[in-house]
Order: sequence, then C-alpha cells, then structure tokens
Amino acid sequence: MPAPRIVGNSPADWWNHAVIYQIYPRSFADGNGDGVGDIPGIISKLPDIAKLGVDAIWISPFYTSPQKDAGYDVADFQDIDPLFGTLEDAQALIDTAHELGLRIIVDLVPNHSSDQHEWFQQALASGPGSPERARYIFREGAGSSGELPPNNWESVFGGPAWTRISEADGSPGQWYLHLFDSSQPDFDWNNPEVWELFRGVLRFWLDRGVDGFRVDVAHGLIKADGLPDQEIIKDPPVGAGGPFWNQEGVHEVYRDWRKILESYGPDRMLCAEAWVMPLSKMAHYVRPDEMHQAFNFGYLATDFDAQALRAIIDESLEAFGGVGSPSTWVLSNHDVVRHASRFGADFVSGAHPTGSGPLSPNKPDTELGLKKARAATALMLALPGSAYLYQGEELGLPEAIDIPDADRQDPTFFRTQGERYGRDGCRVPLPWDSAEPANGFNSTGETWLPQPPEYAELARAHQNGVDGSTLELYRSLLALRAEENLGKGTVAWNEGYPDSVIAFDNSAITVISNTGSQPVELPTGELVVASQPVESGVLPGYATAWVRTS
Ligand code: NOJ
Repeated sequence: MPAPRIVGNSPADWWNHAVIYQIYPRSFADGNGDGVGDIPGIISKLPDIAKLGVDAIWISPFYTSPQKDAGYDVADFQDIDPLFGTLEDAQALIDTAHELGLRIIVDLVPNHSSDQHEWFQQALASGPGSPERARYIFREGAGSSGELPPNNWESVFGGPAWTRISEADGSPGQWYLHLFDSSQPDFDWNNPEVWELFRGVLRFWLDRGVDGFRVDVAHGLIKADGLPDQEIIKDPPVGAGGPFWNQEGVHEVYRDWRKILESYGPDRMLCAEAWVMPLSKMAHYVRPDEMHQAFNFGYLATDFDAQALRAIIDESLEAFGGVGSPSTWVLSNHDVVRHASRFGADFVSGAHPTGSGPLSPNKPDTELGLKKARAATALMLALPGSAYLYQGEELGLPEAIDIPDADRQDPTFFRTQGERYGRDGCRVPLPWDSAEPANGFNSTGETWLPQPPEYAELARAHQNGVDGSTLELYRSLLALRAEENLGKGTVAWNEGYPDSVIAFDNSAITVISNTGSQPVELPTGELVVASQPVESGVLPGYATAWVRTS
C-alpha cells in the first residue's frame, strides 16, 4: 500500500474526526458571471472556507451533464461540464484545496447516468435483448400490448419509475427503470460491464489526487430479484425500505471499491449516502471492509428536542461503534430544508425532498429557527466523530421560500405538478457581499435562482469579524473543537437537568444544550463559547454552551 499523503496536519484516517464542508458548485461562487457557480469561482473563494476552520470539502457533481437534476444526471463521469469549467480547472481545484491544507472529496453517482450518456444512447439505438440494453434495466411492459409499466414502482421525485421508449422503427417499445427523473436511467449492477465502468471512474479521480468520494444513493444500486411490486406508503418515514433499497448485494460493490481505494494508500475514503434506518442497518455500510463513513440521516431528521437528541446520539454511538466506526453528524445538505428554517417550523417531513414554498402550511419563525439552528450546530460540533456542514449554514441562511413557480428547477416540482416544492429553496446562490451584484455571487447580478431579500444582511462580508454573528460562532466552535480534540473524545452524559436540557462531558468540556424556552443555570467553570449571550451564569432558552469544567 502506498504511503499516506501529507495534507495540512491531517493524519491518514483524517475522515474519522473531520469537519467536512459541502460545496454545491451551482450556487457557491460564479467566476464567469453567467448566473451559475463554477470551479474558478470555487477556487477564488476557497481561502475563506479554509479560514472557517474545516478539514475538508465535498464537491457536489461538476461532471458533464444536461443538468436535469442539477448535475446528478451525469453524461460523462470523467469530464467536467462546460458550465463549471474544464478538467484543468478541476485539477487546479484539487491542488488548491491541498495547498490550503484541505482534503477534497468528490461526488460519485453510480446508481444511474443521464439519458445523454453514450451508453444509454447506444441502448436506445440497439434492440431489445442487446448487450447495450443490458447495461440498464429495460423490461417489456405489462398489459395486453405492453402498455403498462412492468411493476408499480414510484420515482423518488414522484410519478412512475418507468418510462416507455419508442424502438428504432418508431413502434412503442420497452420500458426502462429510473428511480429518479426519467432523464436518469438506472444501471443494471448485475452486469459486470457496469462494475468495470465505475472501477475506472474511481481510478480516474484517485489518479488526479482526490481524497475520497461521497457515494450517491449508495443503498439503491441492487434491486430485488424479479423486481416485485413495492408497498405504496404515503409520506414514507425516513429510511423506509422497499424492493429497490438496501438489498444485501450492494455491500459487495463497496468491498470491491474499498480494495481499489486501499491500493492508493490508507488515506482515501468513501462516504455513503444511504437513507437506511434504523442506524444499526446503516452501519453495515461502514463495516471495516466497506465504506469509511455514512451520513447520519437519523440525526438530520431529529427535531431540536433534548430527549430525542439524547436518544439519537446514543443510538448513533452504539450503531456505528458496534462496527468499529465513529459516527457522522449532519443537519443540512442540498436535499433538505435548511435547518435554520426547519427548526423554526413544524416540518412534518423536513428530511425528505418535499421542500417548502409560498403555499406550504408551516411558515418558519425566522428568529426562533436561527436560535435553534445555532444551538443545534453548537451541540453537533461538540460530538465525537465527523461532522458535515452545508454551504451557507455558517451564515445562518434560511430556506428561500418565496421562489416563484416560474423560476423553480427541481424535477420534484414538475413530476408532482407542484404538489411538492422540492429542493430549490436550499440551493439558492450564496451571498458574499451585499455591496456587490447578486450579493457578491458574481459581477453581473445574474443568478440561476433568485436570492431572497433577507440574504443581503446575512452576506459573509457583513458577518466577518462581527462579534456574535453566526459566521464568528462557527469559527469559534470549529477552532475550539480542534483545540480541545472533541472529534476524538467521548460522550459522558450529565444527569439532573430538566427534560428539555441535555448535558455531557467530552474531554475537558461540558456541553449543555437547552432545547426549551426556560433559562437554565450553567455548570461551574469557564464559559468558552455559547450560541446566545449568557448573563450571570444562566443559559437562555434555545441555546447551547461549552464550559471548561476540568
Ligand atoms: C441524492 C442526491 O443528493 C440528490 O440531489 C439527487 O437528486 C439524487 N440522489 C439522485 O441522484
């Protein structure tokens, strides 16, 4: 095995305790002013992210794509979409991250390709039963003339998971499976050619120096034999199963990939996006010979409620600890309502791509949401293991709710005829400086989604160096987390607080989180950081404090 690379101060098993910052390229920073973020934009602002105090970045897809699902519809896994730049730009991004001491992981999308991928185009041009069709999941339709989909599976974005094609002679033909948009046909992972394709993709990016991969829909690659009907449940709970989720065969794929990563040294990692519950099942993805991390969506889906948090933290430590892995923690990403809004309203299914819009029943209370979000982050960053941050949460950005229908882009909105708003509200271009066009996102003022007026005062430049701002809170939390080695610590619960409060010791720090409205006395010691101002040793409602007690 090659020796680990030296990047900043990070050890070979850097991911175990790392804070990883998600960059969503479309909305981070726009170098060429066309309204969509790009790689030169990311490179220009990366020093700001390094200064925040994170250990690594994860870049959502920047590959060649018709952008039907914001880049998760990949037409070429080994090239960059001109919208974002070139392969040389991607190399410059990898190198710049490393020079800044940041590890970099990229997104890998193995469940499906774009319908514009050359393999899918070849499959359409070749007949039923051909080797080209066998790379995807084509089936004859049901009904007397094949006019019905082969089974009752529903797309995650709404509507049927099957689309019928016209054969080369124009006659109605076979159906193909797409768990997501009809422009995202699912690969058939029973086909060795698909395995070879992705082995090559892994090597391609590892050769360019990436430190790992975030694996999209990691629990979906293998479908149940015979493609049996699914049980249709309205508003399924987070991590609900079904004949296309979490089939045993997926684990074989990750055992194979682990060997490829290890051939590059001990410091490359895989992180599973696997919406699988309970966490004891999710933990199967991070057994010692599989992936290194999995997003803890059980944690993400938990309300800011002391007892629920204590339960999910215990469950996480037990489930992941049981397979010898530290847990991850996450509150926001590009698929869910931003936590500053989620906690300000009673979102029934905040963790699903349901989104929030002008006609949604629950209007978030912005002030309460931000208070709770700051407190929730201060709790999360004190937990041992690895934490994921989503761009803009360090500014306290709320969800953009009032996006006009005509501007919406998420396929979820269209496939449900507007019944579900989808994820555009968490994907709006970042505000950097309100004195500039598009709040500093670029120099032209163009944005692919409109920025809400309240983003101006939350721009980074306005929070920079301002005591008590959300940006400075994140910086303090990240610096102290590193200094006190909290990522490598343990959780020892403190008892005796009211039900709306949890407290624990990690290393020399006592962390106390007040999820209720009533103030609570802080333990004796030196207050090192708090998510709200603390007076006379009393922690206000909806706040978290770190106190050095030993
Ligand atoms: C999960 C990604 O996070 C989401 O954005 C995407 O739409 C689906 N997978 C399909 O690739």
